[in-house]
Amino acid sequence: MNLQLKGKTAFITGSTAGIGFAVAKSLLQEGAKVIINGRKQAGIDDAIERLKTAVPDAEVKGIVGSFSEVAEVDTLIAQLPHIDILVNNVGTYASQSFYETTDAEWMRQFEVNVMSGVRLSRHLLPKMVVANWGRIIFVSSECATLVPADLVAYSMTKAAILAVSRGLAQLTKGTNVTVNTAIPGSTLTEGAAQFLDNLAEKENKSRDEVETAFFSDVRTSSLLQRFASVEEVAHTITYLASPLAAATNGAAIKIDGGSMGGIL
Ligand SMILES: NC(=O)c1ccc[n+]([C@@H]2O[C@H](COP(=O)([O-])OP(=O)(O)OC[C@H]3O[C@@H](n4cnc5c(N)ncnc54)[C@H](OP(=O)(O)O)[C@@H]3O)[C@@H](O)[C@H]2O)c1
Repeated sequence: MNLQLKGKTAFITGSTAGIGFAVAKSLLQEGAKVIINGRKQAGIDDAIERLKTAVPDAEVKGIVGSFSEVAEVDTLIAQLPHIDILVNNVGTYASQSFYETTDAEWMRQFEVNVMSGVRLSRHLLPKMVVANWGRIIFVSSECATLVPADLVAYSMTKAAILAVSRGLAQLTKGTNVTVNTAIPGSTLTEGAAQFLDNLAEKENKSRDEVETAFFSDVRTSSLLQRFASVEEVAHTITYLASPLAAATNGAAIKIDGGSMGGIL
C-alpha cells in the first residue's frame, strides 16, 4: 500500500524516544519530511543520527523546546515552517496518590499534555484549512477511560484531549483537513522496558514473568495480554496521517489491545 506521504512535512512533539520516535521513523520510511522535538539539542542530535541510520535518505530536522515552558513553546512555534501533519504526541505523567497530587502537579501535566496540542493547533490548523489539506493527530491513552487510581491527573488530561480533538475536527467541515485522536494502550517504550527490567531484578523474576503478571494482575482487561510495540502504535498513527485516511475525521482510534472494552 502506498500511503502517499511523499512531499508532506510532519512535526511530532516529544519524538526523540518512545512512540514519537517510532512515528518519526515510520513517516520517514514513507517518504515524508519530519521535524522532531525534545527538550535538549543533544537528545535531538542523537535521535536524528539514529533516524538517518534507519532511513538513509531521511529528510529530518529537529526543534528544541519543552512544552512545560510557555516561552519555549512560543519560540518553537515561531520556528515552524508550513506543516502538513501535526502529531501532538508529547505526554508526561506521575504515578501518585490523588491525595498527594498538588495543584502544581495537576497544572504541570495539563500544560504539557493538553496545552501543547492546543497551542500548536491554534497556530497550524488555520493554515491547514487555507491550504485545504492537513492532518492533526492527538495521542491520548487508554487511561482516559480506565482512569487508574494512581493516575487520576494524567487520565484527566488524556480525556480532555478527546474533547479538544473532536472540537477541532468540527472546524474542518467541508475541507480536506482531519483531526483525530490515537488511543494507545500499554506500549513497550524504552521507559516501559526499563521499568520492567528494574522490577524483574527487584523481584528476582524474568522480564517475561513480570510482563505476564502486569496483564494478569493490573491491566486485566487487555485482550492482547502483552505490551504493544512502539511500531504497532506508530503504524496506525502513520495511516491516520496519510491521504488514504481522508474519511476518518473527529474519530478516536483505539490501539489499546482491547483494554478499553466497548463496541465503539
Ligand atoms: N508508553 C505507553 O505505554 C503509553 C500508553 C498510552 C499513551 N501513551 C502516550 O503516548 C505519548 C508518548 O508516550 P511515550 O511513552 O512514548 O513517551 P516517552 O517515552 O516518555 O517519550 C519521551 C519523549 O518525550 C519528550 N519529552 C518529554 N517531556 C517533554 C517536554 N516537556 N517537552 C518536549 N518534549 C518532551 C522526550 O524528549 P527529551 O527527553 O529528549 O526531552 C522524548 O522524546 C504520550 O502522550 C503518552 O501519554 C503512552
